Amino acid sequence: MSLGDLSVGQAAAQPNRAGSAVELSGITKVFGSGNEAVHALGPLDLAVEAGSFVSVVGPSGCGKSTLLRLIAGLDSPSEGRMLRYGAILDGPSRDVGIVFQDHVLFPWATILENVMLPADVFSLPKAAARGRALRLLEMTGLKDFASHKPHMLSGGMKQRAAFCRALLADPQMLLLDEPFGALDALTREELSLELSRLWQDLGRTALLITHDIEEAILLGDRIIVMSKRPGRIRLDIPIDLPRPRDVNTAKLPRFVEIKQLARGLIFTPEQD
Ligand SMILES: Nc1ncnc2c1ncn2[C@@H]1O[C@H](COP(=O)(O)OP(=O)(O)OP(=O)(O)O)[C@@H](O)[C@H]1O
Ligand SMILES: [Mg+2]
Repeated sequence: MSLGDLSVGQAAAQPNRAGSAVELSGITKVFGSGNEAVHALGPLDLAVEAGSFVSVVGPSGCGKSTLLRLIAGLDSPSEGRMLRYGAILDGPSRDVGIVFQDHVLFPWATILENVMLPADVFSLPKAAARGRALRLLEMTGLKDFASHKPHMLSGGMKQRAAFCRALLADPQMLLLDEPFGALDALTREELSLELSRLWQDLGRTALLITHDIEEAILLGDRIIVMSKRPGRIRLDIPIDLPRPRDVNTAKLPRFVEIKQLARGLIFTPEQD
């Protein structure tokens, strides 16, 4: 079943396709101070067009998760300016849904209760949120598991539940930090193609961090290749492949060309 049509029932917010969803200028992030200081990120500038899908790849520890946490408003930069939909970005927002590598479901709560969490956090009307949660669970094939605890679900099912939770408040933007990282190759491919369809249906903005270059190309409008720590942008490649994309997209000559370009860069030593 497709994750698709979320417009059922409660009116979905109109996707914002104009201008930048996120604009970062001169961003750096340093953790700690003195001898203990770790320069994790930047300086970097990044504009993410509203409604676009941006994939980010880069070496382990280069600051990808740090970048995502900054955009999510879960942490603040050491320097630089961040805008979200034109307003100063200074904290979490219900307009942003996040999915991490580890599904982070609460083990003592049912799947439905887990999906409903944003309703408490953002004070959404309970009945409408519950209806929406149930529809999301139905769309992701989890309807019969609404009252189960997370340990009774497979890895792929738990990750679907995490997607449902991220979508509950109908966010304008989805931030995805290796959301398929813990899954087997088949489930990963299936879920990533579902995500692609979902994104296309909703017209929301998405930023995906992945270590899988093929996944990055298959899903993205752009692939950003980051340097080793402190993470900066080494290359920003537009992915001009037709949509909808499927498993056959990976056979197109242009796909192979982009993949070789990205791989070539990742495996070319950086000039210090
Ligand atoms: N809260 C923190 N306190 C101190 N250092 C941190 C903190 N969070 C991240 N770092 C450091 O910042 C650097 C970047 O970490 P980050 O998690 O952003 O990397 P990453 O690119 O997501 O790596 P991976 O691909 O392995 O997930 C690392 O050196 C890490 O040790
Ligand atoms: Mg990370």
